[in-house]
Amino acid sequence: MYNGNENIVICDHPLIKHKITMLRKIETGTNEFRAVVEEIAMLMGYEALRDLELEEVEIETPLEKANCPVIAGKKPAVVPILRAGLGMVGGLLKLMPAAKVGHIGLYRDEVTHEPHEYYCKLPAPIELRKIFVVDPMLATGGSAVAAIDFIKQHGGKDITFMCVIAAPEGLERLQKAHPDVKIFVGNLDRELNEAAYICPGLGDAGDRIFGTK
Ligand code: PRP
Ligand code: URA
Repeated sequence: MYNGNENIVICDHPLIKHKITMLRKIETGTNEFRAVVEEIAMLMGYEALRDLELEEVEIETPLEKANCPVIAGKKPAVVPILRAGLGMVGGLLKLMPAAKVGHIGLYRDEVTHEPHEYYCKLPAPIELRKIFVVDPMLATGGSAVAAIDFIKQHGGKDITFMCVIAAPEGLERLQKAHPDVKIFVGNLDRELNEAAYICPGLGDAGDRIFGTK
């Protein structure tokens, strides 16, 4: 919970904090960066999936019949915001191997910092799915708000947003635009700089995951 808002969770697990520090270091190379983003996504996913519904089914153990819980409820969809969100998909699929994957392609204009859409495809029926939108960075919040606007326009209702690092400005903007969306944040950083980069942050997440620039 963050500032009394039950829809915002700032993760406090020491493993997540430690791994985020690894990402921040300038000397962390592409290979390690990619692996650690995936590990963080899995650890955060464990928290974000805490409210999954269960149902009892009858099974037979080597000793007797028993009623035991299995996951029930809505089918999941993981929706990365391209490019950097792709780095979190593998971690969530380790927890939910049968999840379908959608894609939302957005890039930030370098001058205005506003998002521009270039690709969107969501798994049907999106309105019946439990949707996890993932992007390592929540900076101004423009990309996350636009992605969730798009998902809602296509009927998506049950939406969770997960990011590794958020700026206070982006978290506030996302929460105001979509108060119904659950938000999981690995770490809440200090502020945005004049180029709308998160400080202390980790730099450009897409470039560090894919080794570009
Ligand atoms: C980065 C990041 C987010 C966005 C966050 O993507 O992965 O999608 O910026 O910024 P915002 O909250 O101010 O919108 P970028 O646009 O750099 O594209 P990329 O993932 O392709 O590098
Ligand atoms: N996007 C990034 O990848 N990093 C930031 O700090 C801000 C936006």
